[in-house]
Amino acid sequence: MQATAIAQPNIALIKYWGKRDIERNLPAVGSISITLSDLFTEVSVELDEKLRADSLMINGVFDEQRLPRMQLCLDNVIGEQRVRARITSQSNFPIAAGLASSASSFAAATVAAAGAAGLSLKVDDLARVAGRASGSAARSFYGGIAELRNCDNTINLNALCNEHSWPLKVVVAITETGPKHTGSTEAMEISRNSSPFYSSWLEQQDGDLQIARTAIEQRDFAALAEIAEHNCLKMHSVMWASRPAIVFWNSVTLQCLQTVRRLQEDGHNVFFTIDAGPQVKAVCL
Ligand code: PMV
Repeated sequence: MQATAIAQPNIALIKYWGKRDIERNLPAVGSISITLSDLFTEVSVELDEKLRADSLMINGVFDEQRLPRMQLCLDNVIGEQRVRARITSQSNFPIAAGLASSASSFAAATVAAAGAAGLSLKVDDLARVAGRASGSAARSFYGGIAELRNCDNTINLNALCNEHSWPLKVVVAITETGPKHTGSTEAMEISRNSSPFYSSWLEQQDGDLQIARTAIEQRDFAALAEIAEHNCLKMHSVMWASRPAIVFWNSVTLQCLQTVRRLQEDGHNVFFTIDAGPQVKAVCL
């Protein structure tokens, strides 16, 4: 009744921002991401009939705040009538700081929970269950570059290219180590309800996905760089125009962007992307 799993975070190149169905946590748009290899989260789930309550320890500290979301994840995998669990999670990078720790945490927790309960689920089913806890977690079931598509009332995962056939490198600049001020779910809802740019964001996403898919298929780094930076800045514009405005960047975030621009001017194959946090990821050929 105990299992441990490891998962890596992924960084979106074409972003998921906005929910179609809050209850089932279905994204409003498809997305494309690259899974990192060096950062990871390891989660252990121990189901114990003697326990009266679930507990969650993150990096050695009991975490009451994140427990409910983790409990929901276990309920989704095993069922609400499950035995109580001792959950421990360990990450080798700052969590809740815009480094996609929710993706690696919920992907690992889903696999560990299924293992502890003795369930054998197919990868895509595990990905769908993990996606109910965190939309981006579903993409962490694939290495390399993966696409999450919205289909009717569910999500489908698709590997676009494996890590060996186009070995891109991602340099992560940590500009701030504290937790971010607004969680993704809350920030997405603020955007949906108040950003004047939200509807154009939704309308343009399929076009951006198509351009990125073709660029990846043709291993066209320049084309991928152009659309990924555009899509990232568009997502942040949606947030900046929300009420209240959601600004995750700090002054170092902007300096990193300027550094990437300088590198590009010097002929280097690199582009930036930023998620719901102040960190900058530089994707390199
Ligand atoms: O999966 P969540 O709920 O943490 O949301 C992820 C949102 C972004 O990281 C900003 C974009 C993405 O596609 O990963």
